[in-house]
Amino acid sequence: MSNSLKSRLFVWYIVSLLLIALFVILIVHVLALKNGVLFLTLLFLTLAVFGFTIIYKITKSLTYLSSRMKMISSKNLDERILDIQSSDEIGELANSFNQLLDRLHQAFKREQQFIADVAHELKTPLATLRSTLEIALNRKRSPDEYQNVIKDALAETHTLSSTLKNVLDLAWSETPQEQKNAKFFNLAELMEELLETAQKMAIGKEITVSGKFEKGIKLYGFKDKLGRAVLNMIDNAVKYTPNLGLIEMTLKKEKAKAVVKIHDTGLGIPERDLSHIFDRFYRGTSTDKIFGSGLGLAISKAIVVSHHGEIKVKSRLGQGTTFILTLPIES
Ligand SMILES: Nc1ncnc2c1ncn2[C@@H]1O[C@H](COP(=O)(O)OP(=O)(O)O)[C@@H](O)[C@H]1O
Ligand SMILES: [Mg+2]
Repeated sequence: MSNSLKSRLFVWYIVSLLLIALFVILIVHVLALKNGVLFLTLLFLTLAVFGFTIIYKITKSLTYLSSRMKMISSKNLDERILDIQSSDEIGELANSFNQLLDRLHQAFKREQQFIADVAHELKTPLATLRSTLEIALNRKRSPDEYQNVIKDALAETHTLSSTLKNVLDLAWSETPQEQKNAKFFNLAELMEELLETAQKMAIGKEITVSGKFEKGIKLYGFKDKLGRAVLNMIDNAVKYTPNLGLIEMTLKKEKAKAVVKIHDTGLGIPERDLSHIFDRFYRGTSTDKIFGSGLGLAISKAIVVSHHGEIKVKSRLGQGTTFILTLPIES
């Protein structure tokens, strides 16, 4: 006997039908009903048609669904199953499958876009580097000129390696982490270390950085990664705040959450940029002369989300920006 659901259902169905028939024959016999045979035939036929329709529908839809699923690959992720419209379990299965395809399709498109963006970001500095070197080799030059060429080339390699590092960080933060390497660490300690780094970064612009950190908050996760997430915000605060500005860093416990705030008195973020600043490679519309790759906040967000937290931003143009990072703490 075949192992398919169809044949098993069919056997089960025939056996039940025979049993019912036997039972009814007995009753008809005992009660000695008139038209007993006609009644029996009608009952038998009705049950047969009814049962067969149900079994047929279920198995046909399942076979159809499975054949459609086999046909889906990365090339036709945009296809959907639209010809099963019933509101029963089979319809629900088709629906769930369509939703799964939606999510896969979105993820696949994001990856493709990301690869295109990375290639684009690496192409420009590489092309500049190459033409700088080619022009330098055109004819003999003085040592001073060579030195300038080498300086330019070095600057381009810096851009390249910083973009690459960011891309790798982003890839790390977006793959699900092996929790076995996660540890408990002291958040106030991390913030103290970051405050010191921030003060060093801000010296050149004479920006004052202050910090106020509630002690005794322990967080379970990756200290260096979370440090990186906050550092990216500090880096922005320094970059986008004019000379002599202020930066305030705070850490507080609110309910079962740790709340980190990075506030600056800088340029602020225009309304039109606000909904995009966490996108990969997105750079604000007024950042032309400020170095950056547009990956900082995307990395911060991915790291914070992998720690089950969230980032919010409040900003007023010309007045300043506050990034608010909320992280659940285990108690
Ligand atoms: N503290 C801030 N003040 C003003 N603008 C900011 C601040 N932080 C982020 N931004 C805006 O968000 C954009 C994205 O930030 P980010 O992802 O770190 O990229 P990058 O700093 O390399 O431009 C920036 O280009 C900038 O326009
Ligand atoms: Mg940045």
